[in-house]
Amino acid sequence: MRKPAPAQHRRPAREAGAAAPALNIASLTVRYADILALDRVSLGLEQGNICALVGVNGSGKSTLFKAIMGLVSAGTGTVRIFGAGSKAARKNNLLTYVPQSEDVDWTFPVSVHDVVMMGRYGRLGPTRRPHSADREAVDHALEQVGLTSLASRQIGELSGGQRKRAFVARGIAQQARLMLLDEPFAGVDKGSEATLTSLLQRLRADGKTILISTHDLAGIPRFCDEAVLLHRSVLAHGDPAEVLTTENLARAFGEGATSGAA
Ligand SMILES: Nc1ncnc2c1ncn2[C@@H]1O[C@H](COP(=O)(O)OP(=O)(O)OP(=O)(O)O)[C@@H](O)[C@H]1O
Ligand SMILES: [Mg+2]
Repeated sequence: MRKPAPAQHRRPAREAGAAAPALNIASLTVRYADILALDRVSLGLEQGNICALVGVNGSGKSTLFKAIMGLVSAGTGTVRIFGAGSKAARKNNLLTYVPQSEDVDWTFPVSVHDVVMMGRYGRLGPTRRPHSADREAVDHALEQVGLTSLASRQIGELSGGQRKRAFVARGIAQQARLMLLDEPFAGVDKGSEATLTSLLQRLRADGKTILISTHDLAGIPRFCDEAVLLHRSVLAHGDPAEVLTTENLARAFGEGATSGAA
């Protein structure tokens, strides 16, 4: 688990004067009524890395994703995606979000193809009619995640692992530069996990930046360039080998670490 990440996973540090970071969060605080979910979170991600987001249940991982998307309002602090605010970043297709399964209404009567086409909505013209470029992008995305043969199925009729892949396909079709994946491996078998992992590596090779929450700590050094340990605030961030130490994990997962109440 604490084996250093293979050298090819590392990316050179950003040069002075280069483009804005993929993600820049400064002193972000989010509350749900009297519950303090995020407390002065600051986090920067360079373009082209896969970063694991790790923390105990209730540590604020999903809240962080929602705050980046602008789906929960920040009490204080700022979020910038390639220099833009959440709303502008969404409008300009800079980011995509694969929610935790529990946050999705799977009974919604749409096909897998429809879900992936949703990734194109922000790019459709005023008529909202897909053009051949949109259909091609959807077909390509379905092919990449291996769901071409299931394109006409209702999304609720897919297995858990296939549903995750459908949402990843939506992000691929959207051609988003920052991808937020909330526990894509939960309830997924080892084979589907390997498929998804190699897909993420291909997306990284295309220059995508990926923030991915996971409870599979052992798998992180295999495909992640960096890791963030979250417990309402950032406890550690950096190379997985330096972040996932016994001491840090005890701080994040140790006794008394499960309460999210302020
Ligand atoms: N809609 C909500 N209303 C009130 N409190 C909430 C809401 N969503 C989350 N919380 C609380 O905020 C804290 C952070 O929750 P969050 O869902 O972000 O954690 P998480 O790290 O994603 O957990 P898990 O690993 O279980 O998915 C928890 O204390 C949770 O109970
Ligand atoms: Mg969560």
